[in-house]
Amino acid sequence: MCYLRSAVEEYYTFAIEIAKKAGEILLDLYPRAHEIHYKGSINIVTEADLKSEGLIKRAIKEKYPDHNILAEESGLEGRYEGFKWIIDPLDGTTNFAHGFPWFCVSIALEVDGEICLGVVHNPIFKETFSALKGKGAFLNDRPIKVSKNEQMLKALLATGFPYNIHEQPEPVVSRFNKVLKLARGIRRAGSAALDLCYVACGRFDGFWEERLYPWDTAAGLLLVEEAGGMVTDFKGDPYSIYEKEILATNGLIHKAMIDILKIRDLQT
Ligand code: IPD
Ligand code: CA
Ligand code: CA
Repeated sequence: MCYLRSAVEEYYTFAIEIAKKAGEILLDLYPRAHEIHYKGSINIVTEADLKSEGLIKRAIKEKYPDHNILAEESGLEGRYEGFKWIIDPLDGTTNFAHGFPWFCVSIALEVDGEICLGVVHNPIFKETFSALKGKGAFLNDRPIKVSKNEQMLKALLATGFPYNIHEQPEPVVSRFNKVLKLARGIRRAGSAALDLCYVACGRFDGFWEERLYPWDTAAGLLLVEEAGGMVTDFKGDPYSIYEKEILATNGLIHKAMIDILKIRDLQT
């Protein structure tokens, strides 16, 4: 249950403020040379990921010292239960490192397993996407809704590729091939959190990806749901940020997408 409404609204205002502050750090570091460290052969982390995460965590600890934190670069601090902030300090690290201006900060608050609020801030475009459970989804404070398109042939979709794609290209590639032949277009822009927000505001009709983590989707999930969209796994079962498959659409093309993403003889 999302706790007292007034308290949640205070957390919401705090999350928006802190996402914008973290965005300023990213903007400041973006034009400079980056320190690149490797978490895997193509999975990198920069000084900006660490500085953004540090700022967000310090702010949470100062204001809400008894809350738990799950952040991409430092893992879980505290417990999984109760109040838990879920942070991707820089979603789109590869873009950031290459000077491709497409990245964001993503912050969500989960309370006893339920996402109560989500904020995704794109500092380059100065676009702040936010959602409060039961209160709607917003882009720079204006309400947003998913698209009304019902046809795959008119659908602009988004997806992403996991960092272990070299070792395990299937079934990611097969699914990509199938969707490619049926949709108007697919974008792979490199930030799952922004992909979800773009579904929420109707710029994309749908998004799918596998092998993601809670910090990639926690905020965007609530954005899509509060904007009237649908989020499930590839089979149409309820989505959990702790599972690896996400399908988020305007609801109207959801069934068609489930049929397309079915791959016989292959397991994820
Ligand atoms: C990545 C981005 C990308 C997605 C990857 C994610 P990161 O997050 O969201 O779009 O395809 O699967 O890991 O590493 O930039 O925070
Ligand atoms: Ca991410
Ligand atoms: Ca990240």
